[in-house]
Amino acid sequence: MALREVLKFPDPRLKRVSEPVKEVTDALRELAADMCEVMYDEPGIGLAAPQVGEPVRLIVVDTEWTDAENDRNPLVLFNPEIVSREGKVTWNEGCLSVPDFNADVERSAQVVVRGTLLDGQPYEETADELRAVCFQHEIDHLDGVLFIDRISRLKRSLYVKKRKKQLRAEEEEAQSLGSRL
Ligand code: NI
Repeated sequence: MALREVLKFPDPRLKRVSEPVKEVTDALRELAADMCEVMYDEPGIGLAAPQVGEPVRLIVVDTEWTDAENDRNPLVLFNPEIVSREGKVTWNEGCLSVPDFNADVERSAQVVVRGTLLDGQPYEETADELRAVCFQHEIDHLDGVLFIDRISRLKRSLYVKKRKKQLRAEEEEAQSLGSRL
């Protein structure tokens, strides 16, 4: 089975606000499994459902995995929300949906996250450092927000220019391949 494709900026679907999950269905469990597969394959430490084109409030996170198969411990969380935050931290972030770019983003240093697990049970976790940043980044996706929306206007516009150039080059490449058919 082919892996789901990760949508890339400036795909407008990344800007949608995702819908809350009312009930954890088999289809959603399957989506969560697919998302974990994509996360490990890319590789990444977190993924939000809208990144694979599904506008539902679902994230998967694994901030400590290594290449060993038995060292994977993904957290699948439906309707995740941050119920409290403390302190500030600046982290150099990247995103599977924002190719070839990293930037410093200011986030809360510690967050308490609540959500619903795969089995429907409530979940709560206090996270700090990378894991806190990861939760904030992924939950942002559910609200249609990318990390480049949280950097300076100048840095963002430089990236947007670079990305447009990159997309034009890809398009020209595809066209020249087409003309050789
Ligand atoms: Ni991201």
